[in-house]
Amino acid sequence: MISEPADHAHGILPLYGQPERVLARARGCRLVDAQGRRYVDFESGVWAANLGHAHPAVNRAIRRSLTTVMHQGYAFRSAEAETLAAQLARLHGLPGARSVFLSSGSEAVNLGLQIAMQLSGRRRFVRLDSSYLSAFGYGRLAADNDQRIDLRCDDLAAVDAVPWHEAAALVLEVGGASLEVVRFPHEDFVARAVEAARRAGARLVCNEVTTGFGRTGRWFGYQHYGLLPQLVACGKALGNGYPVSALTVDAEVAAALDAQPLRYAQSHQNDPGGCAAANAVIEALEAGDWVARGAAVGEHFAARLAALRQHRPQQVLEVRGRGLMLALQLADEALAQRVARRLFERGQVVGQRGASLRFMPPLTVTKAMVDTLVREIGHALDAEPGAPR
Ligand SMILES: Cc1ncc(COP(=O)(O)O)c(C=O)c1O
Repeated sequence: MISEPADHAHGILPLYGQPERVLARARGCRLVDAQGRRYVDFESGVWAANLGHAHPAVNRAIRRSLTTVMHQGYAFRSAEAETLAAQLARLHGLPGARSVFLSSGSEAVNLGLQIAMQLSGRRRFVRLDSSYLSAFGYGRLAADNDQRIDLRCDDLAAVDAVPWHEAAALVLEVGGASLEVVRFPHEDFVARAVEAARRAGARLVCNEVTTGFGRTGRWFGYQHYGLLPQLVACGKALGNGYPVSALTVDAEVAAALDAQPLRYAQSHQNDPGGCAAANAVIEALEAGDWVARGAAVGEHFAARLAALRQHRPQQVLEVRGRGLMLALQLADEALAQRVARRLFERGQVVGQRGASLRFMPPLTVTKAMVDTLVREIGHALDAEPGAPR
């Protein structure tokens, strides 16, 4: 039985907000809090539960690993990890690729950068200024991180100004869900940056922590750009909420690492438990055709948001996104905050940053759930003082 703590802040460091309500149950797209209030989760937790919460097949795989082997030492191989490595090589279209499995997206991105740096002997890397990379390490956003070279997203001239020969890697995160509240760079900009990196010998690291596993209407965000990554980091949806991440490297990088091995010790490395969860996630996504089905619901969702904008052009400035990674830019931040708050009170959990609302529901979300949310957004906007009638 989960009960609400008397003092909601007690004992927990408020590092990212200070929520008040306690969640009691999560299943599919639906959440129920300790007071019995019901919600639809348009954030998929932190953009992880692409199959919906408590997916039965994923839960079965986790339970199985709990009673066989969930975690093990470096003395053993793991069949679950090797199966998952083969699955990722297939999904990425990278024959001869190899993977390592960690716990968080930040770890996978940082390890990718560490490998690119070791192999090139260079200590810097380029990222798009629209993209988030990691909570710590090379990718951290701190102003004193001089290893990071920020490239202005969609600025073609800026591509030529990058000191590419200092860069071990170009890290491409094509969704920009965190910092820009969903932003996909233009194809010609990406092509130019990737070509400049390639010519200078900087490797392409694709960050698919957020855009992976069907989120953008394809299996991986880089596929919208016709790219093949040399290194690719995945997390979040890989475990559908269970903390497991992956760094996959192509055959060339794998061979280079054979010649120049990297020693990397982390307790949770290739854990059978996380890999079992991830294998079940991939199997369920494929069996249910959820990438294509999520893309179809995403199109419906985007069309409904576009209609909302058409009827309320003063309040709704822009609809952006791909697949089920969508955003609605409102007239200002205060309006977005009020609308998000009202939606929460009405049982609709959405993201909000600046003037934008963000929607990244499970791929299993229904058109009816989408229609209800869009109706609620309309009501919230109509309730604003001075709203057009
Ligand atoms: C694009 C992107 N990369 C990396 C990360 C880091 O992943 P994690 O929070 O699992 O460490 C995030 C987290 O939100 C992200 O959005």
